[in-house]
Amino acid sequence: VKVVVVNGPNLGRLGVRQPDVYGRQDLQTLRSLCMQWGQDLGLDVEVRQSDDEAEMIGWMHQAVDEHTPVVMNPAAFTHYSYGLADAAHMVQDAGLPLMEVHISNPSARDQFRKHSVISPVATGTITGMGLYGYRLALEAVAHLLEEQ
Ligand code: DQA
Repeated sequence: VKVVVVNGPNLGRLGVRQPDVYGRQDLQTLRSLCMQWGQDLGLDVEVRQSDDEAEMIGWMHQAVDEHTPVVMNPAAFTHYSYGLADAAHMVQDAGLPLMEVHISNPSARDQFRKHSVISPVATGTITGMGLYGYRLALEAVAHLLEEQ
């Protein structure tokens, strides 16, 4: 089963951006880890990153059309993109697992990070576990697919 792992704005800067908050591992490392974890779980994982809201929305449409579960770190779009939330809603409406991941724990940070417009349309949310959160999200997807 194919699963897309989509990462929002500035996550291409993993490893150099606030390493105290997001760690020292880069996007390429996250990509390798997710593919390895996917393999362990029998999932064919593709990791994407974009700074562009339109591109991320397009990926949600594609997930619906191709019936692909989604793991998403919406990054800053989490807090204000109703466009991405509407697109994520369509993924949920299609009966597909959609796991929201945050590397940090946004609730423990700035006030504007305490609200997610994505959480209401996510199957579940994992925060504060670093890159390991992606593994937990992939495990959740595998579990949800087994249950279906
Ligand atoms: C983030 C948290 C967001 O608040 C922030 O805008 C990000 C990354 C995280 O993974 O912890 O870019 O989604």
